Amino acid sequence: MSLSEAARTVRDNAYAPYSNFKVGAALRAASGGIFIGCNVENVAYPEGTCAEAGAIAAMVAAGETELLEVYVIADSPDPVTPCGGCRQKLAEFGARDVKVTMATTAGSETTLTLAELLPGAFSQSHMDNT
Ligand code: THU
Repeated sequence: MSLSEAARTVRDNAYAPYSNFKVGAALRAASGGIFIGCNVENVAYPEGTCAEAGAIAAMVAAGETELLEVYVIADSPDPVTPCGGCRQKLAEFGARDVKVTMATTAGSETTLTLAELLPGAFSQSHMDNT
């Protein structure tokens, strides 16, 4: 299954009764394996989690810590972009040149690298004086 198919399929399982905005994410890890996630909302709104966070958690739970490619899809007018927090989460496990494809269910796609999505990312090197 392709990354786009995996993201489109898992989106159906999103739990989004508060926003009614379902998001699906799929990532390819270094092994070649695909990991998927969807947003999971909560009545205590800040406790909800994004689709990207779910896919990352599934990858790490499977014992992998390097992602090579990401695909995110939602029913939005323009391709859905990862929130700021998820950009930092993705940067934890992906190199600066990792491609993130953002898509609409209608078929539009935009691809940007992690460096483009999160210029000046906070990284381990910022703590070199500690
Ligand atoms: N959301 C994601 O899961 N990923 C994104 O890239 C953007 C936003 C979710 C969070 C929340 O459940 C809903 O979309 C509305 O913000």
